[in-house]
Amino acid sequence: MPYVTEKTLTDVVRQRWSDIPDARLKQVMQAVVKHLHAFVREIEPTEAEWATAIDFLTRTGQMCDEKRQEFILMSDVLGVSMLVDAINHRRPSGATPSTVEGPFHVPNAPAFANGANMAVNAPGIPCFVVGKVSGLAGEPVAGATLDLWQTDGDGLYEAQRPEIDGVWMRGLYRAQPDGSYLIRTVAPIAYTIPMDGTIGELMNRTNLSHMRPAHIHFALKAPGYHGLVTHLFQSGDKWIEHDAVYGVKEPLIVDFKKFPAGSKAPSGEIMNEPFCVVNYDFVLERQAQAAAA
Ligand code: BEZ
Ligand code: FE
Repeated sequence: MPYVTEKTLTDVVRQRWSDIPDARLKQVMQAVVKHLHAFVREIEPTEAEWATAIDFLTRTGQMCDEKRQEFILMSDVLGVSMLVDAINHRRPSGATPSTVEGPFHVPNAPAFANGANMAVNAPGIPCFVVGKVSGLAGEPVAGATLDLWQTDGDGLYEAQRPEIDGVWMRGLYRAQPDGSYLIRTVAPIAYTIPMDGTIGELMNRTNLSHMRPAHIHFALKAPGYHGLVTHLFQSGDKWIEHDAVYGVKEPLIVDFKKFPAGSKAPSGEIMNEPFCVVNYDFVLERQAQAAAA
């Protein structure tokens, strides 16, 4: 083995880390060594700075448990979550694009009938989300499930409402035989990503926004189609161009059209308070025949 110098060290380490039978692990570790060494060569950290970095990562790990994942938040604010999402969900133009899932999805949402209200007693402006689920050729995707979750009108998810015993601001709807769906909820509002951990500590040393523009999360599934995890964002939101986790894609920005009290809602009822309506048609891509289960 050659003895190392500052100049030869990276090559020596890469050579040693090439002795890995698993081809994918070898590829990953070669890239880790290459990019990590390049980073350190560029930054030239002092020993105190390197110790600070290790302490930061240690405390980030210590914040993680079954309810809190500070490393995912790190990946989110560095845009890595969105990059992994983009690489794994390349869709043709015309298909609804995906965006990051985030930490607030709870599996097994309760089923609601078409048009039912998933936000009974929740604070916020009543909001109807209406549209169709179709395939790229325009065919209706009957029976597609739409699992949605969002903040209430105070900007809080179920996980942030410990006083609520049970389901809050989430539900499972089903597209009708013609692909249409009708959801009743309340309008979400913009909120901050969790700032009480190491990522908040880091963000507070920058001028970066820690806000997410108002959005509703959706996970769509239908047999024979690629699943879709996405959001609908409220157009005009103050933070739409400064989403802390880079989740906004132009086709996902929609009007939350306001109507005064006394107007007819998409459900047919005359509302006795102001409300808003979001119109959105989801377009799913069919799975290749061989890949379809
Ligand atoms: C969310 O949209 O729920 C979210 C995504 C990433 C980080 C924090 C929150
Ligand atoms: Fe969210």
